[in-house]
Amino acid sequence: MAAQILPFSPPKSRNSGLPRKITQPSSQEFNSNAIPRIFDEFWTAKQRQMHSLHYAVSYRGSFKPELPDFFIKKFSDPGDIVGDPFGGRGTTALQSVLLGRRALSNDANPLSERLTYPKLNPITEEELEGRLNEINFERPRKLANEEDLSMFYHPDTYREILNLKDYLKENRDDVDRFIELIAISRLHGHSAGFFSAYSFPQISIPKSNQAKINKTRGVEPDYRDIKSRILKKGRLVLKDGEFEMMRKAAKKSLLTTSDSRDMSKWKSGSVDLIVTSPPFLNQVDYIADGWLETWFCGIEKTTLNGKIVQTPSLDEWMQFISDTLTELHRVVKSGGVVAMEVGEVRYQSKLLNLDEVLVKLISEKKYNAGQFSIREIYVQSQEFTKLANCFNVKNNVLGTNTNRIVLMERK
Ligand SMILES: C[S@@+](CC[C@H](N)C(=O)[O-])C[C@H]1O[C@@H](n2cnc3c(N)ncnc32)[C@H](O)[C@@H]1O
Repeated sequence: MAAQILPFSPPKSRNSGLPRKITQPSSQEFNSNAIPRIFDEFWTAKQRQMHSLHYAVSYRGSFKPELPDFFIKKFSDPGDIVGDPFGGRGTTALQSVLLGRRALSNDANPLSERLTYPKLNPITEEELEGRLNEINFERPRKLANEEDLSMFYHPDTYREILNLKDYLKENRDDVDRFIELIAISRLHGHSAGFFSAYSFPQISIPKSNQAKINKTRGVEPDYRDIKSRILKKGRLVLKDGEFEMMRKAAKKSLLTTSDSRDMSKWKSGSVDLIVTSPPFLNQVDYIADGWLETWFCGIEKTTLNGKIVQTPSLDEWMQFISDTLTELHRVVKSGGVVAMEVGEVRYQSKLLNLDEVLVKLISEKKYNAGQFSIREIYVQSQEFTKLANCFNVKNNVLGTNTNRIVLMERK
């Protein structure tokens, strides 16, 4: 069965005032030329324009808060339920609550709940400072029996991190959970505001790579007092306020840790809008790239293996997304909308637009035919940065600069 295209009113282009509807040539064997794609700059390319809580922590594969903001405003009303089965750092949940919607956020990785809950339940600066003054960061301890993280941290910094880690095992009120979020965000990075020696902010790199960086730079980790760094970053994250309203909305929200194919705590027919982004095949290794974060939270790596789907096989990925769509069909109301963001990947040395694969899933009997109708596909296009121009990358040619959002309506 061919995918059904419903009438739609494309949003106006920021630049010309006119919608730019382009039918993009198919790049692969998935011939989805029949589906119109709207290319435009729907939201700003500028950084850090949204609520300060969004910038509490980096996360691999996260989308800009402007993306859920655009779809939540367009396809839901205050009081509606907005869900994300692949919650990550909770971008959709936070933006939903800021816009007066009720949030449902799920992820297979329990880290997601640790990152999302404190953003939906923010505290005051005074509470943060007061609690930091109560925690004993100075407790002496032998490091010999601990995991060797000497390539990342000075021994005195590491002692403070371990004391905080132990404290957070026992103490879990909203202030503690906010401190945990900010500490997670400071574990590794490239400036003096982080706990580690010079490292990558987005990815927890392997110990051996960190040792190499130290060697190349000719440095050993210097002492970084963690309390002042948590306080400084925490104040920045809390600066935009609006907390009373958020805490009320958060009470009506739900965070779950389960497989996107079986979210039994989400009620059938309850969700008005889904705004989400699944893993793109195995583009990101969520387990390896977040190992310091999961270590700090005491989440065993073995509990993640097999649960987080990051597969190089297109067939397996299609089945995974198809099963997730079936679960979304169960939880979304009739007439509700799903906005699923996917990207372009290199697959068997060719460019593969995953939006075309989604179209195939939604159209074919073997997969999800009869569950959804495709409304439109949005392609967020942005002018390339100066850096990309240096490398002679052209917009939409190598496919490294677009978000592709397949918008479908539940039948
Ligand atoms: C592209 S990221 C989502 C990022 C999110 N949009 C954000 O802004 O932070 C994909 C997420 O899917 C999660 N994931 C992978 N396999 C999953 C599964 N089987 N069920 C639920 N979540 C899964 C990963 O842990 C990761 O957080």
